[in-house]
Amino acid sequence: MPTVQDIRQASADTTPLTMLTAYDAPTAAIVDAAGVDMILVGDSMGNAVLGYDSTLPVTMADVASHTGAVVRATEDALVVADMPFLSYGADDDTGIENAGQLVKEAGASAVKIESGPHTVALTERLVQLGIPVMAHLGLTPQRVNQVGGYTRQGTTEADAQEIKDLARRHEEAGAFSLVLEHVPSELAAEVTADLDIPVIGIGAGAETDGQVLVLTDVVGLSASPPPFAESFGDVRGEMEDAVAAYREAVEDGEFP
Ligand code: KIV
Ligand code: NA
Repeated sequence: MPTVQDIRQASADTTPLTMLTAYDAPTAAIVDAAGVDMILVGDSMGNAVLGYDSTLPVTMADVASHTGAVVRATEDALVVADMPFLSYGADDDTGIENAGQLVKEAGASAVKIESGPHTVALTERLVQLGIPVMAHLGLTPQRVNQVGGYTRQGTTEADAQEIKDLARRHEEAGAFSLVLEHVPSELAAEVTADLDIPVIGIGAGAETDGQVLVLTDVVGLSASPPPFAESFGDVRGEMEDAVAAYREAVEDGEFP
């Protein structure tokens, strides 16, 4: 069972770290049994399983409930719970209380926070309290309205510099790893070289310390995966076939 200290050490290894999302017990058990290092109960559940068209409506209750299901089904992987939109950042006491709920009640081993200048102090306090923090920079989907879309980030020199500075500040604040989403691979390589903690990329090229994707994209269940996702299966097709076969069997009197 990897701890955050194992993950932290892994940036020196040659084998890339693997992380996938999961939102429920059966899929968490599959991801866990496959030997994936970390399971992220991402707020991507908003799009992936809750039927929203962004992550903004996802609540603490949503993440806590799904985290509980994932934790109950996971034996080996490190379970990281994603802090939803506005559950942190407005004031740090509320952020601590909410992070605490995900660890103390739902059973996560760490939280992930979409990071910015406003999360450096919170990251430091959480780490002091014993709540490990995974930072997240580059494309941060909770800021979609401010950013104006889900576009690649860090494409200007100023933006790239800001990401590098914030990455370092969150490492100094005690984050045990960093997710870097949808940035140029050269920038991801620079940040990876710059930091001691492992950088987990998504749409950030091949030179990070690890990769993360959304489970429903990886297994081929998502209706509209992002351009940087890769599907390694056809679960949607399998489910369509099974459901159609069931309906036909009942209607034709072959089942039961
Ligand atoms: O919510 C999520 O699934 C994420 C990953 C894409 C990093 O934040
Ligand atoms: Na997320």
